[in-house]
Amino acid sequence: MKKICCFFWVIFFVAGCKTTSHTNSALADINPFQFSVQKKIIGENGAVVSAHPLASKVGVEILKQGGNAFDAAIATQLALAVVYPNAGNIGGGGFMVARTADGKLLALDYREAAPGKAYRDMYLDSAGNLLNDKSVNGHLASGVPGTVAGLFAAAKYAKLDFKKLIQPAIELAEKGFVLTGREAESFNGIQNDLKKFNSVMPVFVKETVWKTGDTLIQKDLANTLMRIRDSGQKGFYEGETAKLMVEEMKRGNGILGYDDLKNYTAKYREPHVFNYKGYTVAGMPMPSSGGVLLHQMMKMVEKRNLGNLGFHTVQSVQLMTEVERRAYADRAEYMGDADFYKVPVSKLVDDNYLEERMKDYDSTKAGSSAVIKPGKIKESEQTTHLNVIDKEGNAIAITTTLNNSYGSKTVVGGAGFFLNDEMDDFSIKPGVPNLYGAVGGEANAIAAGKRMLSSMTPTIVLKDNKPFIVVGTPGGTTIPTSVFQTIVSIIDFGLSTEEAVYKPKFHHQWLPDKIFVEKNFPEQTLAALKKMGYAIGDREAIGRTEVIKILPDGKFEAVGDNRGDDDAEGW
Ligand code: GLY
Repeated sequence: MKKICCFFWVIFFVAGCKTTSHTNSALADINPFQFSVQKKIIGENGAVVSAHPLASKVGVEILKQGGNAFDAAIATQLALAVVYPNAGNIGGGGFMVARTADGKLLALDYREAAPGKAYRDMYLDSAGNLLNDKSVNGHLASGVPGTVAGLFAAAKYAKLDFKKLIQPAIELAEKGFVLTGREAESFNGIQNDLKKFNSVMPVFVKETVWKTGDTLIQKDLANTLMRIRDSGQKGFYEGETAKLMVEEMKRGNGILGYDDLKNYTAKYREPHVFNYKGYTVAGMPMPSSGGVLLHQMMKMVEKRNLGNLGFHTVQSVQLMTEVERRAYADRAEYMGDADFYKVPVSKLVDDNYLEERMKDYDSTKAGSSAVIKPGKIKESEQTTHLNVIDKEGNAIAITTTLNNSYGSKTVVGGAGFFLNDEMDDFSIKPGVPNLYGAVGGEANAIAAGKRMLSSMTPTIVLKDNKPFIVVGTPGGTTIPTSVFQTIVSIIDFGLSTEEAVYKPKFHHQWLPDKIFVEKNFPEQTLAALKKMGYAIGDREAIGRTEVIKILPDGKFEAVGDNRGDDDAEGW
C-alpha cells in the first residue's frame, strides 16, 4: 500500500512497510521510505540545508554523532549524489567556501578540468562551425570530475572516519529511497535523452512512467561508493571505477583517459574576501566568477543608500539592474581560470574602477548594453547548493554541479553515476556565441587541464569576524545576482531570512539586454521600469537559494527554498 499526503510545507511518503535497519549508521534514525520536507528550522547545535530532505537529515545525523560541519557537508554531498542525481554528483565538480572554528577562511576548488586531449577548437568543424550539441550531450561534453577529490580535500578538516561519512550514501543507493513528485517528473522528462546518450541502459530508464513514491535502487552506484569507501580517492580515480569510466568513453568517442583521472587534484585557493558596510564577505575566487561579481555588484551599490530606496521599488531594482549589467559585461571579457589566463582581479574590484563604471549611471532611464562590448552569456541552471554550520564555529557553503540537469546524460556503464557536461562552460568559440548563446573571450578558451569559468557563488558573510549569513544557490549565470539580492535583502532592506529567500528575484546579465523577473514581481515596479526603457522577460524560477543566518542569540536559522524540495534540518 502506498499513501501520499501533501501539506503546505510538507510532503510525506509511505511506501509499503519497509523500514530501515541501518544500525550504527547515520541512517539509523532516518527512513528513506517515509520522510517530510521541512522549509525552516532554528537549531542550537547545528543546521544543514540542502536540495533534498534525506541529504539534510544525513548531515544533521552526522553532527549528532560527533561530526563537525565538514563531516556533515561531506556526508550531505555524498547523499545528494544518490538522492538528487539531477545535480548532486560524484561525476561533476564544485566549490566550497568555509570558515573554520579557529577563524580561518577557506576556498576549495574541485571544478572539473578539460581532459589532456582537449583543445581550443574541439567543438568546431574544419570550416570553424559549431558541432551540434557535443559540448552539452554525450561523452565529449565531460570534464575530469572533481567532486571525489574535493570531498577528500575537505576531509582534512573533518573529525570522523570517511567510511562513516560515505556509509549513508551507500545504504541509500543499495537499499533505495522513494522519489518525490518533482523527481519522478524529472526522470520522465529525460527518458529519450537517456536512451540516446547511453548504450548501457542506466536504472533511471523505465518503460512505464516514474511516479511519486516509486523506490529508486542504484546497485552500480552503491558498488562505486563502496570502492571509494574501501580505497579512498583511488577507489574513484584509479582501479575499477577509472576502468569503467574509460570504457564508457570508448563507447561514445569521449577523450577522458586514465592519466586525466589519476592526475586530477582539488586545490585550496585564497578566498575572495571584501568588506561591505562593516561586514566581511568571503567568496569563491577564479575559476568562479562568483566572488568577483558579488564584490563588484555590492561595491557599486554600497554608497548609494539601497536600503532607503526600498525593497522591490523601481529605484532599487533599476540601480541593482545597472550594477548587474556592468559586472556581467566584465565577466564575459576578463574572467577565466587564473592558472591559465591573467585575470585582472585587483583592477576589476578596485574602488575607483567601480566608481568609473558607474559614471554613466542615470537613475531616470534604462542603460544600454549596446554601448558596452557585445556578447551573450548562458549557463545551465541545474546545480545544487548546501550549507552546514556547527556549534564549534565551522560554517560551510558548497555549490556543486553536473552543469545541465543530469550533466551529459551519459551514465558510466556499470558504475551508475552521471558524467558532467561542464566543457560547455568554456567559450567554445571565443568571441562568437555558440549554439546555446554562450560567448566569452580568450580568458575562458578551452585548453588541456584548464578549468572552465563558473558562476557558482558559495558565500559566507561575517559580522564581527563570526559567521552571520551562509548562502548560495544553483541557477547558472543567475547565481551571483541571486546571492547579491539575498544578502542585500537581509542587510540593506531588513527582510526576514524567509522573505529574502522566497520573494521573487530578478536578473540582468548585460546581454540579452533585458531584466528577467519571476512571477509575482510587483506590477507597479515593472510598469515603471518599462516606462524608463527596460525590456522585461518572464522567468519560471530563479535559483533555489539556501540560507543559514546566525541569530543574535547565537542560534542557527536555516531556510530552504520553496522553489524545490529543499529542506532545512537542525538540532
Ligand atoms: N555549470 C554552472 C556553473 O558552473 O556556473
